[in-house]
Amino acid sequence: MKHRKNNNISLFVVVFSIFLFGAFMYNEDVKSIAEFPFSRPKAQDIQEKQTKETTPVQDSTRNDKENMESINSRTSLEEPARLETHDEETEKQEFSTNLKSIVIQDDDLDEDVELPPEECDLFNGEWVFDNETHPLYKEDECEFLTAQVTCKRNGRKDSMYQNWKWQPRDCSLPKFKARLLLEKLRNKRLMFVGDSLNRNQWESMVCLVQSVIPAGRKSLNKTGSLSVFRIEDYNATVEFYWAPFLVQSNSDDPNMHSILNRIIMPESIKKHGKNWKGVDYLIFNTYIWWMNTFNMKVLRGSFDEGDTEYDEIDRPSAYRRVLRTWSKWVQKNIDPNRTTVFFSSMSPLHIKSLDWDNPDGIKCALETTPILNLSFPLEVGTDHRLFEIASNITGSMKNVPVYFINITSLSEYRKDAHTSVYTIRQGKMLTPEQQADPATYADCIHWCLPGLPDTWNEFIYTQIISRT
Ligand SMILES: *[C@@H]1O[C@H](CO)[C@@H](O)[C@H](O)[C@H]1NC(C)=O
Ligand SMILES: *[C@@H]1O[C@H](CO)[C@@H](O)[C@H](O)[C@H]1NC(C)=O
Ligand SMILES: *[C@@H]1O[C@H](CO)[C@@H](O)[C@H](O)[C@H]1NC(C)=O
Ligand SMILES: *[C@@H]1O[C@H](CO)[C@@H](O)[C@H](O)[C@H]1NC(C)=O
Ligand SMILES: *[C@@H]1O[C@H](CO)[C@@H](O)[C@H](O)[C@H]1NC(C)=O
Ligand SMILES: *[C@@H]1O[C@H](CO)[C@@H](O)[C@H](O)[C@H]1NC(C)=O
Ligand SMILES: *[C@@H]1O[C@H](CO)[C@@H](O)[C@H](O)[C@H]1NC(C)=O
Repeated sequence: MKHRKNNNISLFVVVFSIFLFGAFMYNEDVKSIAEFPFSRPKAQDIQEKQTKETTPVQDSTRNDKENMESINSRTSLEEPARLETHDEETEKQEFSTNLKSIVIQDDDLDEDVELPPEECDLFNGEWVFDNETHPLYKEDECEFLTAQVTCKRNGRKDSMYQNWKWQPRDCSLPKFKARLLLEKLRNKRLMFVGDSLNRNQWESMVCLVQSVIPAGRKSLNKTGSLSVFRIEDYNATVEFYWAPFLVQSNSDDPNMHSILNRIIMPESIKKHGKNWKGVDYLIFNTYIWWMNTFNMKVLRGSFDEGDTEYDEIDRPSAYRRVLRTWSKWVQKNIDPNRTTVFFSSMSPLHIKSLDWDNPDGIKCALETTPILNLSFPLEVGTDHRLFEIASNITGSMKNVPVYFINITSLSEYRKDAHTSVYTIRQGKMLTPEQQADPATYADCIHWCLPGLPDTWNEFIYTQIISRT
């Protein structure tokens, strides 16, 4: 594979690309810049190859009303204006976990669970094939999965994407034990707050714990912005709260997602925040809704006052304002003796197969293995400026420590793990015709379950069971 940083794209091409992107980005469909002829050399070949993939799919009984978010392509940030340099020393301290090298006795299963040492960086490592331990549950054994993520039921033929285990370089993740986690969640609430990627992770968490709960002792209640999975015998809940920008925005309707003209109120968080108070484990994220325009629209005034005028400010500035608002809210409203706060870094997209040097690819649609050669820097279009802001702000919250779940790089290797054409769109299963046209319809944002988000939850699991 080539070292991408070496490419000599002329300024003209960059500017021209940005121009085209701008002209393009209001399109409602999830499309990518890979669709432009100059970056898709073998469109015909690809189409031919793909037509054989047209397996008819059954419509799911679950009709997830969710609309696909309109994320148009990579941001052209390959050569981002780098932010200020990073302070490595403070970062180390800020992200050190609270892990202790102790062994937990799991009486239920009569087996020990070994915790990684506190200083081990769990996010630095590699993907290893392990079909003995992964997947951690079976797709058809988790009735709570929505049709958006049940890739096999939706027609996906390969299944290796379920068999990869994340292996940290210097230690190992503890074996996943649903009962051990549930014991920690007894009489407690765990809540994911954010966008559809956090919902993706919430569905994974529900499946991870539900297998040990008998039928009739668990239930799912979706009401407005809040979805609550309840586990009776533990008096525990695993919840998801829809707030794609964390702060108030015109995109807060949990069912109506086709908002192209996204407008936020970067300093307004109370309306959402009141729903997060008293929760014992909070997992936040916000990223994908920022990605369809270069600038963010910031309301002048308030939606409640009927104001409609806005200013456009650049994405990183708006993101920083939002995370500062969030950080202040957390420090004012969270009792660190009671609540553990997590922040998930951005979940990456895979919409341009040349990013991993596959000229015959169509977005993520034909990928069946992770990127395993780690000896070159990978660049799949993630906006690293936002990563820096998130890691910086979460790391500086001394009163309420925030556990930064650094999923971005390790997920960038998982070009194979997206739902692609085995998913729904605007509440409906893709038709065979749509499935045959991945260039238009593949979803390379969300992830199949079982799959990658299970690993994200293994980090949360590790942190939760490590705290007594
Ligand atoms: C991995 O990538 C590097 C750099 O492009 C290349 O030199 C090497 O041969 C690759 N290794 C494998 C096993 O493909
Ligand atoms: C991180 O935050 C500190 C202050 O909170 C600021 O001085 C520094 O420039 C920030 N760095 C980045 C990369 O945002
Ligand atoms: C996140 O993890 C990657 C490896 O997966 C590492 O290179 C990077 O430095 C980490 N960043 C932070 C802020 O922890
Ligand atoms: C795991 O993969 C190996 C190699 O592909 C295969 O031989 C074996 O049957 C698989 N085992 C399970 C449990 O799927
Ligand atoms: C059940 O859980 C809720 C929410 O965490 C808690 O407030 C309540 O005290 C618990 N009930 C009992 C009987 O412990
Ligand atoms: C679901 O939750 C809502 C809001 O808390 C409540 O009003 C409703 O009764 C619940 N439905 C069921 C079936 O429990
Ligand atoms: C948390 O607990 C410690 C030790 O019990 C106590 O000193 C501290 O005041 C508590 N903090 C808050 C915010 O309640």
